[in-house]
Amino acid sequence: MELRIKRAPRIDIEITVPGDKSISHRAVIIAALSNGMCTLRGFLPSEDCMHTVNAMRVLGVKIEQSGPDTLIIHGKRRVLAPPQKQIDCGNSGTTMRLLAGLLAGQTFESRLVGDAGLSRRPMDRVIAPLRQMGANILAEGPEQTPPLRIRGGSLRGIHYRLPIASAQVKSALLLAGLFAKGKTTIEEPSITRNHTELMLNYFLVRTAKNGNGGVSVFGEQVPESRDFTIPGDISSAAFWLVAAAAQPRGHLLVRDIGLNDTRTALLGVLLRMGAQVREAVEDVGQLEPRGVVEVTGVPLKGTVIQGKEVPQLIDELPIIAVAGALANGTTIIRHAQELRLKESDRIAAIAHNLRTMGAQVAEMTDGLEIHGPATLHGARVASFGDHRVAMAFAIAGLFADGETIVQDADCVRESYPGFDVVLEKFTNPKRMQMSTPVIGSLTPAPVEEA
Ligand code: S3P
Repeated sequence: MELRIKRAPRIDIEITVPGDKSISHRAVIIAALSNGMCTLRGFLPSEDCMHTVNAMRVLGVKIEQSGPDTLIIHGKRRVLAPPQKQIDCGNSGTTMRLLAGLLAGQTFESRLVGDAGLSRRPMDRVIAPLRQMGANILAEGPEQTPPLRIRGGSLRGIHYRLPIASAQVKSALLLAGLFAKGKTTIEEPSITRNHTELMLNYFLVRTAKNGNGGVSVFGEQVPESRDFTIPGDISSAAFWLVAAAAQPRGHLLVRDIGLNDTRTALLGVLLRMGAQVREAVEDVGQLEPRGVVEVTGVPLKGTVIQGKEVPQLIDELPIIAVAGALANGTTIIRHAQELRLKESDRIAAIAHNLRTMGAQVAEMTDGLEIHGPATLHGARVASFGDHRVAMAFAIAGLFADGETIVQDADCVRESYPGFDVVLEKFTNPKRMQMSTPVIGSLTPAPVEEA
């Protein structure tokens, strides 16, 4: 599939986005370990999350899809079945890393494989701590890359400080900790998304926070089955939020979106860049905050993203780079070397595509320096097989002269099936659903310090 994009008319629209990808993975896994039937609503039926669903099916879990975004999961009281075949994680790093943790504590052997892209991504970050817990886990690829062969066994709780901030690794260790003897404590160098902790708590698994920002899980607990509704994915909404923010007088309302404060750093960035941004949490009943976000666009100004803010923006950096190209002045992204290890080398991919569209960009080992405002011109750009690169450059196309074509854009289905349908609305004035300011009377979201 190719995405063909023309300059956007005035943006004034209200949307919802599909379910949160990170929460969908975790909900499926934890519900599958629970002691009964759980209905998950708002599940993201994307390719990545379906790999987790299929993996849990291979492990003997009955999962019914009773609607496009509704799953009924029959929890197995922690007792998974030995897989009769290898487990295919596709291009989903979250599936592979979370399952590595889960499978390390089982009594059987399993093998996790990925596609060509995932097979290039590092797994040492999850292998090393799992081995400390007593796991027998081996990477078959060069330099600790997939496939992973895991011979499960008895694990012991450890106290581990993550060398790099990674919610996937933290979550893998929490899942392994559930099957370990004693307490497993993980400390992270800076805060990452806390969905696993919240989901465990929601399923009544006992965890604890320690003073250094660490989290502990106590082993050998069975999650209590419960129903859960997954909120919209703010990392998917990010593309539309930036589009509205970068268009003077653009106006966007996103309803029913996840507002967990480990995920909302983009709103602070857009405020710093000058946009009007308001958020209202409407519900925290299932521990994950959800609500509405409203953005009004202005001529943006450049900003600096660095340090502890980076892990909380890790999936938003491609679209922030596009915002930087449209903004007045310089936007600097530093300390983001992790971007080179995502579905593509995102630093190289973004620099290449921005230059193809006429922006001035300097590439650094750990980031980008973007000199705006660029006069973007429509061009053929590559997705690099990376869903977030494809979507970020579709948004760049909304601000370019002429036509922009994003090639090989099928990868958007990994996180955002239906992205192309919403994109069509953003390019077609007749499809704009006029919205009126809704939460204008609320206090603006706080500005995050870099
Ligand atoms: C994710 C964590 C992040 C993020 C990824 C999803 C998760 O990866 O980039 O899209 O669901 O835990 P890292 O843990 O590698 O930072």
